[in-house]
Amino acid sequence: MLILGIESSCDETAASVVEDGRRVLSNVVASQVEEHRLYGGVVPEIAGRRHAEAISGVVRRALEEAGVTLADVDGIAVTYAPGLIGALLVGVSFAKGLALSTDKPLIPVHHLRSHIASNYLAYPDLKPPFLCLVVSGGHSHIVKVDSYTHFEVVGRTRDDAAGECYDKAARAMGMPYPGGVALDRLAEEGDPHAFTLPRPRVEGSRYDFSFSGLKTAVLNRLHNAAQKGEEVNKADLCASFRRTVTEMLVENTMLAAEDLGAHTIVLAGGVAANAGLRRGMQAACAERGYELYLPPLSLCGDNGAMVAAQGYYELLAGNTAGADLNAVASLPITADNR
Ligand code: KG4
Ligand code: ZN
Repeated sequence: MLILGIESSCDETAASVVEDGRRVLSNVVASQVEEHRLYGGVVPEIAGRRHAEAISGVVRRALEEAGVTLADVDGIAVTYAPGLIGALLVGVSFAKGLALSTDKPLIPVHHLRSHIASNYLAYPDLKPPFLCLVVSGGHSHIVKVDSYTHFEVVGRTRDDAAGECYDKAARAMGMPYPGGVALDRLAEEGDPHAFTLPRPRVEGSRYDFSFSGLKTAVLNRLHNAAQKGEEVNKADLCASFRRTVTEMLVENTMLAAEDLGAHTIVLAGGVAANAGLRRGMQAACAERGYELYLPPLSLCGDNGAMVAAQGYYELLAGNTAGADLNAVASLPITADNR
């Protein structure tokens, strides 16, 4: 079965054709990041406009590169939540038009479900149930994946998402948006124990995170040093910051895994590309004898293939929508798909 996947929830316009939820036939991503960098973050108005300009060309290329036409496709999957509403609406409207004009099923896909599904593309043997740490620019969740379409949120951030925290800390150190990758790279050259940064305890849940204090801590270090006329070793600060975030993410995930008896761990989302987090997860899982799945770097960021992969399983579960489908800015991963 061939699914066309369309993604426009943030700053990438993306489309892909995937066979049976597992085999990528094409994966086209048009990124707007260079333009948003000028403003230090994603400007929703600009994102919506650029998606509208790019989407038909991106979808056409995805079909061409897969060597198929719309007539060959069995369903049209689209990210409908969560994300920037003006950005989501472009993908949803376009997918609706395609579905109506071709009389194919329209499949609404939750963005975090699709991040999780990026692993199905890389690992043909991976099947639920498993425990997944989903860490992106907008979300940080520990999710119990009971089946392809049934999820339970075990832990979540109480404030900033992990990616947001990386980007804010990177910005404080003068790195251009989105600074997560640059911070990760510079961290390789630093001493992860040079600075002690705060790790706030979260009341009420063993598995929830809080990241908002970390950015302030980084800013305070920089300001204090500037006032004393001292140089801060940025590589050391990056390495210490990355160690702190990694420890919080890994420890809570391992705690949840132990409590739930989950021995298969999966990582997903843009921050899954983080070298420190990948190594931290590998070490923690090896120590406990857990099986670990890390998405390939090429599938960590937003893309259409993960939407098509999840769309396949949503279609099998009968989760399709009509012409009244709307985009939703904020929606839990557990919500009924529609
Ligand atoms: O999943 P994603 O592409 O978009 C959202 O759904 O939000 O995630 C983007 C986020 C950005 O905050 C970006 O800085 C972060 O993922 N990111 C990283 C790395 N690569 C991307 N953060 C830390 N280290 C990385 N290597
Ligand atoms: Zn994403």
